[in-house]
Amino acid sequence: MKMTLIETVLFSLATGSYGWAHGIHEFRPPLPGDSRSPCPGLNALSNHGWLPRSGKDIDLPAFQSAIAGAYNYEPTSMDGFFQLALNFNLSTTGNQSTFNLFDLARHDEIEFDGSLSRNDIYFGDNVHFDHTIWATVAKNLGLYDTLGSEMNQYVTVESAAKACAARAADAKRVNPSFNSSVMQVMGNPGTTALYLVTLWDENAGAAPKSWVRALFEEERIPYLEGYKVPKVPRTMDDVNKMTNRMSAVEVKV
Ligand code: HEM
Ligand SMILES: *[C@@H]1O[C@H](CO)[C@@H](O)[C@H](O)[C@H]1NC(C)=O
Ligand SMILES: *[C@@H]1O[C@H](CO)[C@@H](O)[C@H](O)[C@H]1NC(C)=O
Ligand SMILES: *[C@@H]1O[C@H](CO)[C@@H](O)[C@H](O)[C@H]1NC(C)=O
Repeated sequence: MKMTLIETVLFSLATGSYGWAHGIHEFRPPLPGDSRSPCPGLNALSNHGWLPRSGKDIDLPAFQSAIAGAYNYEPTSMDGFFQLALNFNLSTTGNQSTFNLFDLARHDEIEFDGSLSRNDIYFGDNVHFDHTIWATVAKNLGLYDTLGSEMNQYVTVESAAKACAARAADAKRVNPSFNSSVMQVMGNPGTTALYLVTLWDENAGAAPKSWVRALFEEERIPYLEGYKVPKVPRTMDDVNKMTNRMSAVEVKV
């Protein structure tokens, strides 16, 4: 079958939208030499080609269209984060308008202690997914316990807030150089709010556990598990509101 460009685009939209393939944005794990970050949200964008698959030389226009295309964030809603990476002089690309994903890992700039799925720099690696760290967080989120009620399929604001607080408390206990920096104090609940808002299921009022697993464990956008780009664009206002909802949860650690 020979198709014009527009037919090809329409065809791939119609056939690939909700599957593993998702058109030209199929999931492909990084190759050796590709650049990845401590951020599962950005790594997933590169693993699906919304950002360059190399994870390198990311500029603002590419960044804006990636967060909008994949997650339907307002294109400019995260410009502040992008600018932060440049302002901290994290870029190693040789071009002060771009960065590589790995550049974001420099400790005590944007990266901080007590992450959900990474260990602290004190223990050697703050970038890669850490099975041991995640096992405890996943258990607290009940990620592998999905039997029973419909609501048991979801991570709620309450369970997410508690798992986040428990991880930070564990990290403080075991890491003698734990830094309760401003970034850590704000970023810890902030990144939990980010994954909740990004993976939010409007009908359930919670985030499906299978989507949370895909994002953290495979750095994959959960198209296979039914994720669809939300219809209404999301903003940092949504993320801030989510952080406020989290802080209303009583946590015992
Ligand atoms: C597009 C939506 C985004 C989502 C869904 C997302 C999600 C997340 C999540 C869930 C974490 C916590 C990982 C963990 O605790 O193990 C995280 C961490 C991080 N994110 Fe993102 N993120 C997004 C955008 C961004 C942006 C725009 C930047 C900067 C340009 C960024 C940089 C980072 C960094 C440096 C960390 C590591 C912080 C730490 O030490 O835990 N992220 N992100
Ligand atoms: C980044 O580099 C610029 C130019 O060299 C400098 O003016 C600025 O103070 C640096 N910022 C930080 C946070 O080090
Ligand atoms: C640096 O990157 C920006 C954004 O992609 C681009 O417009 C500019 O031409 C680049 N500068 C150089 C010197 O390559
Ligand atoms: C904690 O992080 C801040 C940056 O947010 C840094 O200025 C400070 O030196 C760090 N403290 C320690 C003890 O490393």
